[in-house]
Amino acid sequence: MPHLKVTPFDTAILDSIARQSQLIDFVATATNRASDKLLAISHQGERFFLQLKCEGELYLLKYEKVTRPMKVSILKEALGIVASELALEVRSSNIAHASTKPPLSSTHAKKIEDFVCMEYPFERVSVEVGFGSGRHLLYQAKKHPKKLFIGLEIHTPSAQQVLKQIELQGLENLWIVNYDARLFLEMLPSNLCDEIFVHFPVPWDKKPHRRVIGKAFLEESMRVLKKGGRLELRTDSDNYFWYALETFFASPKIGVEVRKNEALEVTSKYEARWLRQEKDIYDLYVTSQEESPQSKATGDFNFNSVKYSDQILEAIPPKAIVYTEYFIHFERTFRIEKERCLIKCAFGSFDRPEHKYLLIDSNGCGYFNGLPITTRVNFLAHQKIVEQLARLGG
Ligand SMILES: C[S@@+](CC[C@H](N)C(=O)[O-])C[C@H]1O[C@@H](n2cnc3c(N)ncnc32)[C@H](O)[C@@H]1O
Repeated sequence: MPHLKVTPFDTAILDSIARQSQLIDFVATATNRASDKLLAISHQGERFFLQLKCEGELYLLKYEKVTRPMKVSILKEALGIVASELALEVRSSNIAHASTKPPLSSTHAKKIEDFVCMEYPFERVSVEVGFGSGRHLLYQAKKHPKKLFIGLEIHTPSAQQVLKQIELQGLENLWIVNYDARLFLEMLPSNLCDEIFVHFPVPWDKKPHRRVIGKAFLEESMRVLKKGGRLELRTDSDNYFWYALETFFASPKIGVEVRKNEALEVTSKYEARWLRQEKDIYDLYVTSQEESPQSKATGDFNFNSVKYSDQILEAIPPKAIVYTEYFIHFERTFRIEKERCLIKCAFGSFDRPEHKYLLIDSNGCGYFNGLPITTRVNFLAHQKIVEQLARLGG
């Protein structure tokens, strides 16, 4: 990921430079370590943070994980512009050629927020979870030009690679979403999809809570599949196969089909490796048995009368507050000049938390760059965040 290592400089200049900068909106300083800063950037229609911190003898300027834009070219450009505005002495850099690289076309890259009111221009829709190199996804999209394929992938470089392939192959029926599939499904309307492919998910034997397949994912899959639509799991892991079968059978009404060593028309990168090693490959097909009612979580992400007060930074609870179905955790606080602050928080469901920044000033409070996704537990967790901030006199 793009970053710069620079000679230490007087960070007191940051606020005054931000006032004249073409892309730095403001600078925030961590309350627990004054040398850690966040630079709020607006560039090419994206709002995100760059992080500045000490690393050994040097300062490191790099992307910030929670707000990172998908296009690396935007990050590289922003790092280059900030370095020149601050007249930084760059000691090492990996942002070369930022301005010569054409930005990736984004018509096929969709954001999670786009799905709040999405129009689906195709009658038939399929989803692939964790497409990796995209071999299966690209093959399917090419073979079925009248069907929309939505590919979900949390690994950004893989998403970017496949976006490039979509351009090269001139595909019109493929959208890429760089987001966690387990959360994404909640954004889809009921009875939309023909298939959901989950091919060779990471088994996470040591961290089973990170697995894609789980009770909630199964329920959401059955809701978004049409009656007769199919969830296809393909795995080389015995453990994962038995775990998935158990998860599926725990459901009160479900049709499950099991296959072993079935050849598909296209072999994915992972599959090719397992086939060379002569491993067994299992398929589990789960069919949706009935139409599902439309279920939209309702609520809002307003902060009503929450406003900046010094109390907020002084008394904010440092530990996670755990409720039955969700939690909230104010992880880190930052001061910004003129009665403003930022709070980094994690909240929502235990296995799929949201990570967001709250920007609070004397006029009010809001999420820094886009709302959380509209799930039931996110609405509930948000209400608890509001209660906590209001309690602190915010
Ligand atoms: C073992 S690879 C398999 C890739 C591809 N399906 C294949 O068969 O070659 C698993 C992929 O799932 C992605 N992944 C893991 N968890 C995910 C999640 N919750 N949402 C979306 N993608 C995920 C990983 O980034 C990785 O690319």
